[in-house]
Amino acid sequence: MSYPYTFFRPDQIERLRLRVAKILSEKRMKHVLGVEQMAFRLGLLFFWGDDESMNILSAAALLHDVTKECTDEEQLDILREYKYNALPEELASMPTIHALTGALVIPKDFPEFADERLINAVKWHTTGKAGMNLYEKIIFLADYIEETRKYPACIELRETFFSANPVNMTEDERHRHLDRAVLKAMENTLTHLREKGNVIHPATLEAYADIKRRLSDEA
Ligand SMILES: [Fe+2]
Repeated sequence: MSYPYTFFRPDQIERLRLRVAKILSEKRMKHVLGVEQMAFRLGLLFFWGDDESMNILSAAALLHDVTKECTDEEQLDILREYKYNALPEELASMPTIHALTGALVIPKDFPEFADERLINAVKWHTTGKAGMNLYEKIIFLADYIEETRKYPACIELRETFFSANPVNMTEDERHRHLDRAVLKAMENTLTHLREKGNVIHPATLEAYADIKRRLSDEA
């Protein structure tokens, strides 16, 4: 199912911020606001002057973890409610399922935000996928490098990204810079999952191979 593109007003985003704060714990909300800020910072590099896209990023950031605090049972209930036939690999990596359930609940629970760009940015924020668009890459990376993240790998990637001064790059360089950062975040996640012996969602492997190929094609 596809949803129309919508322009969100700042007052709608402000109301969404208050609503999400009532759903999530204080700690998770701090992370969500961190993602919103980081998505804004990254967004300015690519969508300067494009309020519609900047607002999509804000709303996607606010909604990206909206079902993250649901139990596994509640996650499965959402899949059933929306008659979503989950693939075995989706069910095998439960920590990533909130991205899917978050995307599923948006049209009904937050109808004014049922915009395809936003829904897909939420849907792919944990695993990534092959052929990610700019909204999807920005939310994916913002989730990994936002300011409340304290893992050394996250801090290092945040510092490397901004210390390269992306604002002074050409547009092509800036896109490659973003792709390299997304690739690095995926690489770190894959290493972490492998070390812990956790299941790796196939979309992550496809996303990783896709960005790596694009970067080497352009080199
Ligand atoms: Fe998150």
